[in-house]
Amino acid sequence: MTSLGQRLMDRLAALARHSDEQGKLTRLFLSPSHRTAADELTLWMREAGLSVSMDALGTVSGRYEGQSPGAPALLIGSHIDTVRDAGRYDGALGVLAGLVAVEDLARNSERLPFAIEVVAFGDEEGVRFPVALSSSRALAGSFDTAALDVQDADGITMRQALKEFGCDPSHVGGIARTRDSVVAYIEAHIEQGPVLEAENLPVGIVTAINAVKRFTLKVTGEAGHAGTVPMSMRRDALAATADMLLAIERNAANTANVVATVGRIHPVPGAVNVIPGSVTFTLDLRAPSNATRDAALAAMTNAMRAIAQQRGVSLDIALNHEGSATACSPAIIDGLSEAIARQGIKVRSLPSGAGHDAMAMAALCPVGMVFVRCERGISHNPAEAITVEDADVCMRVLLDYLRHFDAAALRAA
Ligand code: HGY
Ligand code: MN
Ligand code: MN
Repeated sequence: MTSLGQRLMDRLAALARHSDEQGKLTRLFLSPSHRTAADELTLWMREAGLSVSMDALGTVSGRYEGQSPGAPALLIGSHIDTVRDAGRYDGALGVLAGLVAVEDLARNSERLPFAIEVVAFGDEEGVRFPVALSSSRALAGSFDTAALDVQDADGITMRQALKEFGCDPSHVGGIARTRDSVVAYIEAHIEQGPVLEAENLPVGIVTAINAVKRFTLKVTGEAGHAGTVPMSMRRDALAATADMLLAIERNAANTANVVATVGRIHPVPGAVNVIPGSVTFTLDLRAPSNATRDAALAAMTNAMRAIAQQRGVSLDIALNHEGSATACSPAIIDGLSEAIARQGIKVRSLPSGAGHDAMAMAALCPVGMVFVRCERGISHNPAEAITVEDADVCMRVLLDYLRHFDAAALRAA
């Protein structure tokens, strides 16, 4: 019989085929490949005997009833949207591990004291639109409907994209779950870092998820002729931006546990013989606590404003997304620790530098995450890789956890 780990790897390989870029895995929120991936996932869930629905933001949920129909549900899942030129495990692992776990319960006609819902969120990465965690925030009841009017790089609003996807954005208000209908949210995810591999451990438990803020910044100087404007008279927006990027990097490098990334930069007009008149760039800033994140932000902002002043350019900063530092449930951490220990594996807990849907779900219910070792800690990169043996450990831990899960104890915690 095929091992659960192999089943998981096979599903991951199949889902990875849904991409909008030839030869790469790029599956952005509400894209054609998000639609076909959601449709294939729906088929798999139905084949496993789950009752499947899609909400107004495109989240697919497959429900496996417990011993009594309509019981509160343990949600297990992650996201099926990806970054550009992504690996196949970030997000999909958590969704498909939930599916493979429920398939195993169904195969054994096992019913637990609670329902299980496998959820596939569609906008965790926030790559297409300048917002993130939209679908998990909607389910948790904290979605800001203003996000429906944000535009992607082609000027398409989320509202329009939802209609093209086959959803009705006017129903977004009905997505939120009530607290008494959900007992917990569990997410399996690749570590996206080097710790488990360095300590030769297949899995780990997340203690907390870092705080994040994302911005779009615009530097405005003056476009001019590359051949005639003396250097002393320029207000070069790109040169000013370069100074700012180095100031950001210096601050982050000199502040413990702070990370800052400028992932996208766009000079205008972008001609070889024109002094750039304006530059738009992004900033992704993270730290273990909101306070550390915001202190770093203040220092970086002061440095950038001083550079703008000195160079005679203007600087506009727009906040696009923020996620608070999120603690995982101690009771779930304990339960997952016991499940890992029962497999005879050393229990290792660690913080997450990466953001996850669990950050949004923590507003609704207790959350917990299992990390799976990934090769050289690489992620957001097609070289992302896990082994079938570690996939099997992940499945054994999840199923062991589900079979020992005590909803009453969690509620009392
Ligand atoms: O950016 C992140 O931390 C996550 O991969 N969305
Ligand atoms: Mn990611
Ligand atoms: Mn992810």
